[in-house]
Amino acid sequence: MLHITLLYGAVREGRQSIRAAKAVENALIATGKAQVTFIDIAQYHLPVMEQRLKDMPNPPEHLLEISHALASADGIILATPEYNNSYSGALKNAVDYFTKEWSKKPMGVVTASAGIQGGINASNLLQLLILAIDGFAMPTKLLVPEVDKNITAEGEVQNERLAKNINRFVEDFLWFTEAIAKQKIAQ
Ligand SMILES: Cc1cc2nc3c(=O)[nH]c(=O)nc-3n(C[C@H](O)[C@H](O)[C@H](O)COP(=O)(O)O)c2cc1C
Repeated sequence: MLHITLLYGAVREGRQSIRAAKAVENALIATGKAQVTFIDIAQYHLPVMEQRLKDMPNPPEHLLEISHALASADGIILATPEYNNSYSGALKNAVDYFTKEWSKKPMGVVTASAGIQGGINASNLLQLLILAIDGFAMPTKLLVPEVDKNITAEGEVQNERLAKNINRFVEDFLWFTEAIAKQKIAQ
């Protein structure tokens, strides 16, 4: 069983992109190959980062909790809405707290938008962010267009093509994660 941590990064009141994150969580669990830790950044009320976790003399418990969820994961998925052609500031702020937690982690990108492009700009920039933090960005991304129409509040997918894309993304991500996990064990 692979341990996947899904970090979802929108804190806006009325946010819709959480539907995409939930749909991915559901699809991961449905494979029977993964257990998922869902980190909803909104629940942590993280202040703007003034110091990285590793430099804090007395780190708060909630940061240690996220750190553990990231460090112990075989693979990490970052999920975000597209805001102003990029990923959310809340997600970037959370990412900036951590350092070694990301190192050599297989990482997948999920973006969502209200429009038809599914957050393509955010997805490209998020892959660059993953490279900057020493993660391994999976080439396949999941873009979720018209997230409010295509997925229910519970994360049930209403669009057949999107459901196929989600399943393909999840299968690719587990394959990618397992390949890197095996290499780590072999070393
Ligand atoms: C500050 C802000 C900026 C946005 N910028 C974009 C954008 O650049 N491209 C886009 O497709 N949608 C944009 N949207 C619309 C989002 O796609 C839409 O709100 C969608 O539901 C996902 O965001 P949410 O999780 O906050 O609801 C923006 C929304 C907000 C609140």
